[in-house]
Amino acid sequence: MTSTLGPPPPYYENRGFQPEPPYTARPAAGAHPYPQLFSTNPPSVPSYVPRVATHQSSRPAAPPPRRTCAASLRKTIIIILSILIVICCAIAAFFIWYFVENHCLSSLIECGSSGVCMPPSQWCDGVSDCPNGEDETRCVRLFGPNFILEVYSPVSKSWYPVCHDDWNDDYGKIACKDMGYSMDTYFYSRGVPDVSFKSYMKLNTSAGNIDLYKKLYSSGSCASESVVSLRCIECGLPSKSVSIMNRIVGGSGAVLGQWPWQVSLHVQGTHVCGGSIITPHWLVTAAHCVEGRLSDPLSWRVYAGILNQDEMLFRSGYKVQLIISHPDYDTDSKDNDVALMKLETPLSFTETVRPVCLPNPGMMFQPNQQCWISGWGAEYQGGKTSNNLNYVAVPLIERSRCNAVYIYNGMILPTMICAGDLAGGIDSCQGDSGGPLVTHHHSVWWLVGDTSWGTGCATPNKPGVYGNMTVFTDWIYKNMQANR
Ligand code: ARG
Repeated sequence: MTSTLGPPPPYYENRGFQPEPPYTARPAAGAHPYPQLFSTNPPSVPSYVPRVATHQSSRPAAPPPRRTCAASLRKTIIIILSILIVICCAIAAFFIWYFVENHCLSSLIECGSSGVCMPPSQWCDGVSDCPNGEDETRCVRLFGPNFILEVYSPVSKSWYPVCHDDWNDDYGKIACKDMGYSMDTYFYSRGVPDVSFKSYMKLNTSAGNIDLYKKLYSSGSCASESVVSLRCIECGLPSKSVSIMNRIVGGSGAVLGQWPWQVSLHVQGTHVCGGSIITPHWLVTAAHCVEGRLSDPLSWRVYAGILNQDEMLFRSGYKVQLIISHPDYDTDSKDNDVALMKLETPLSFTETVRPVCLPNPGMMFQPNQQCWISGWGAEYQGGKTSNNLNYVAVPLIERSRCNAVYIYNGMILPTMICAGDLAGGIDSCQGDSGGPLVTHHHSVWWLVGDTSWGTGCATPNKPGVYGNMTVFTDWIYKNMQANR
C-alpha cells in the first residue's frame, strides 16, 4: 500500500522478448543462384517481342483457333469450381466452430461443458437432469443490498422474489445450501415490506415433502405484502470496537478487527499476496497470485486476524486444500484476475476474523464511491512488503474515464474496476494483490474488488486496477457449490 508520494523512481515497461528476423542462409558456394523451379540456366538477354501490331494488315483477321475457346472454357470452369470449394470450406469451418463453441442449438442450454443439451423447461424444476446436476445449481440468488431472495422461472426466463407467506428458516437453509453456503453459517430469513413487485413466487405448503422449488408457484398476490430477505452468513460487519470514522481519519496503520476479512497468504514463510474471507472455508484472491507452480495448494499458508508479519512467523497458519483459478483468466491482459482458495480446516470467526459480503447482482456502486483497500504491500514503488497492515481510502473511477487515452487507453475490461486518485499519492502496490477493495453501503461491508494491477504505484493518472467482484459472484457461488 502506498500512502506517500516520494520522487517517482524510473519505471520501465517490460515489452518482452523481441525475436530477431529469421536468418536467411546464403546459398552454398557453387550452388545455382537462380531458383530451380523455372530454369537451370541464367536468363539470357531479353529479346524484344512486339505485342501490338505496328501496321494495319489489309487481310481480315482470321477467326481464333478452336483450341483457344476450349481453353478459356476450362479456365472459367476451374475458377467457378475454386470459388465453390472456398465457399464450402467457409461453411464447413463455420459449422465446426459453432459446434465446438456452443454445443447446443439455440433453444437448448448446455449442461456445464458436458456437451449434453437440455430444454429450458428442465432447468430449476427440482429434478436433476444434467449429468452433474448443473440444471439445478443456479436457481436462486440474492438480489440488491437487502439480500432479496429470488427464484428463477425457466418458463418465463426471469427472476421472481419469494413471498414471505409461510416461509421459515428451514426453507432459508435449503436456499442457502443451493447457493453453495454451508448450513452452519445460516444467519436469518426476514420479511421485507415491498409493494413494488407485481409477481411473486409463493409456497404451496400443502404440496407435501417435495423439493423446495417444486413447492413454489408464481402468483400475482402475496398476503403479507413482504418478500424474503435471506442472509446465508453474517458478513460485512466490522469489529464493534472500531467506529467507521476511525477508518477515514488517522494514519494508514490498521487496528486489529478493522479489516477482519483481510488475510495474508504466505509461501515458504514470506507474505506473497492478500486475500479476503467470504466463508469459514473460502477465500477470494487474485488468479495471478496462484499462477504456475503457485497453483499447488501445498505451497500456501493462510494467516487471519494478525496485524504484523513478524507475528505470523511464530504461527503455523491455515493449510490450503484447493485452489480454483478463473478458467478465463488471461495472464497478459489480467482479464478475470480472480481465484478461490479452500481451507483444509474452517476458520473460527471472532472479533478479528470475519467474512466480508460478496456483492449481490443488482447492486450499483456509484462512480466516485468511497472504497478502502488494505494490505501488507510495498509502501512505495519498488519497496519491500510492510510489516504492519495498512489501509487507505480510494474512490472508484468510472470505467470510461479510466479507459481514457492518457490513463489506461482501453485496457480496462468489464472484469476490472479502477480506484484511486488520478493525482497520485495513494494506491495499492506490490504485495497487496488479491487483497480486498471494500465499500460500506446499507450498514454492510461489501467486497467490490480484488487488487490486480497498475502501472507503477501511486503514479498520477495510473490508478490501481481491481478485479470487478460483481461479475465474479456467479462463478464464486457455482464453485463453492460444486466443491463442498
Ligand atoms: N500486481 C501487484 C501484486 O501482485 C499489485 C499491483 C497493484 N498496483 C497498483 N498500482 N495498484 O501485488
